[in-house]
Amino acid sequence: MYIAHTVAELRAHLAAFKRPAFVPTMGNLHDGHLALIRQAKPLGDVTVASIFVNRLQFLPHEDFDTYPRTWDSDCEKLRAAGCDVLFAPDEKALYPEPQTCKVHPDPALADILEGHFRPGFFIGVCTVVMKLFQCVQPRVAVFGKKDYQQLMMIRHMVRQFAMPIEIIGSETFRADDGLALSSRNGYLSKTERAEAVQLSKALKVMAEAVQAGERDLAAIEARAMQTLTERGWQPDYLVLRRRADLQAPVPGDSLVALAAARLGGTRLIDNLEIEALAS
Ligand code: PAJ
Repeated sequence: MYIAHTVAELRAHLAAFKRPAFVPTMGNLHDGHLALIRQAKPLGDVTVASIFVNRLQFLPHEDFDTYPRTWDSDCEKLRAAGCDVLFAPDEKALYPEPQTCKVHPDPALADILEGHFRPGFFIGVCTVVMKLFQCVQPRVAVFGKKDYQQLMMIRHMVRQFAMPIEIIGSETFRADDGLALSSRNGYLSKTERAEAVQLSKALKVMAEAVQAGERDLAAIEARAMQTLTERGWQPDYLVLRRRADLQAPVPGDSLVALAAARLGGTRLIDNLEIEALAS
């Protein structure tokens, strides 16, 4: 695996390829990330991953400084997964001057849910992804459905700017008990880890209620909020939205249940696409 620390090194190395397949990450890699690499592999003539903990997408009180950085094991895992090129710039290499030119995604999508609770988050995400795309110039890029709103935002950005990149959404990789894998799961204590599965369980209960024909979506959401709150969680949102634009559904829409909740000091997110129509 070739490791590029600068944009110039990356460009020189990728000049020999026509169809890079790209997986951007912030490192601390787990099997969910590696599934994206494996999915990307047959889609291009060279598989590129990036590791960059992007300060722009963290609020001042969030975990930028303590975000887990596990360089050696990340490299080992990428090699084993068959990654060809790792782009790992430091902050000076990716942001040589303050990044004052930023991507401001559509507020209708960027200021709801995650964007409501983490103001500016999607400006940071879209800005770094736009920049990474300029560096790697991929023909295809793979993102996880685990970050459902992020995937939608990237699709929208690529469409709006006519970027010649195919965006692939990859299914959420889960632990045996159903907890979606996340770098932040490492913050959980043993008891919290056992409790953490309740987030995906709450989403399942919401999905089952819809599938059973319950029409009062607000009541389903309120019950899920109550269940998690009573178990000691601090939920930001547990909602049923339409998949197309994450707005409130109308009858006939395909649905997705989305959740973000804090367990102790750790904020977890998850979602579940519901195989039923809103009625
Ligand atoms: P990060 O959280 O490291 O995630 C990198 C990619 O892995 C994202 O596309 C994310 O959706 C995907 N991913 C994470 N956990 C997953 C799981 N359990 N199953 C499937 N895919 C999973 O998302 C980011 O980094 C950043 O915002 C980034 C896009 C790199 C921009 O900084």
